[in-house]
Amino acid sequence: MIQEHFAQEHLPTDLSAAQIADLEEQITQELKDRDACLVAHYYTDPLVQALAEKTGGCVSDSLEMARFGANHSASTLVVAGVRFMGETAKILSPEKRILMPTLEATCSLDIGCPVEEFSAFCDAHPDHEVVVYANTSAAVKARADWVVTSSIALQVVEHLADQDKKIIWAPDKHLGGYVQKETGADMLIWDGACIVHEEFKAKGLLDLKQVYPDAAILVHPESPESVVALADAVGSTSQLIKAAQTLPNSTFIVATDRGIFYKMQQAAPGKQFIEAPTGGSGATCRSCAHCPWMAMNGLENILSALREGKDEVHVDEQLRIDALRPLQRMLSFQAG
Ligand code: 13P
Ligand code: SF4
Repeated sequence: MIQEHFAQEHLPTDLSAAQIADLEEQITQELKDRDACLVAHYYTDPLVQALAEKTGGCVSDSLEMARFGANHSASTLVVAGVRFMGETAKILSPEKRILMPTLEATCSLDIGCPVEEFSAFCDAHPDHEVVVYANTSAAVKARADWVVTSSIALQVVEHLADQDKKIIWAPDKHLGGYVQKETGADMLIWDGACIVHEEFKAKGLLDLKQVYPDAAILVHPESPESVVALADAVGSTSQLIKAAQTLPNSTFIVATDRGIFYKMQQAAPGKQFIEAPTGGSGATCRSCAHCPWMAMNGLENILSALREGKDEVHVDEQLRIDALRPLQRMLSFQAG
């Protein structure tokens, strides 16, 4: 029951322009006073993304959030995103104080991959290299040989397949299936899914394409195979923004969280972006193209995180050391 994990009281409230300006000013001052930096994911509220940019922080995909935070000189990072992003920051930068607007912002992939079951699965296949997606707990990462994000998954698995390695992939079954199809790797895939991307519907997408025949379709690979099959570009959040910039089309139908439109519009001004449909048969629309956990990040709780420091991320030291190894492997692979 994924819905039990939504904390409605943390959803951002409607703020007036004056309240927004006031909060922005207070947060900017607190960031300065506390030697802190705001790091935000593309799926967060545009107000949060704009403030991260304005204050010299970063707005990016999960891989770049990890790299940026680790390389930044600030002693405190405020991570606006979901919990695995805060944990990743802490694993990479134990000397830093990592704050989150709310620690209740989780991810259905993380929830769907409990460490005890996952470890037992790995133990049952000891001849497999364990590759886990970044959207997992520190404990699951600690059990892995590699951590990957969607922007680097294909390259890492290709690299392992070239060495004839058998692979355990967790937790996202759609991304895993896509990677398997693209690389031909021998993969055992965990049965997890993202509640946002799983809602996109191929039938609805085809109908919308009739209305906008010249539109290019951009799809995050956490979407079902039938949706990926209709894509003009498949990729991580930053790869989709790049595609919006470089493809010649002036209209795009986008199958990922609509928070990304803020950066897409900035990167490709004058182009039109349309949400891919989540309706259709079987749809429950639990998410309607917006991650309920990303939506828990707002200006008000960023300010209280800075002032009260209550939602600080802590990771057990031994777990941190064990999770650091596969994470660093990913960062070195990317750098190399
Ligand atoms: P990216 O790694 O592409 O930023 O995606 C993170 C995520 O949670 C996608 O749903
Ligand atoms: Fe997790 Fe999906 Fe939300 Fe990304 S969009 S954080 S994968 S639930």
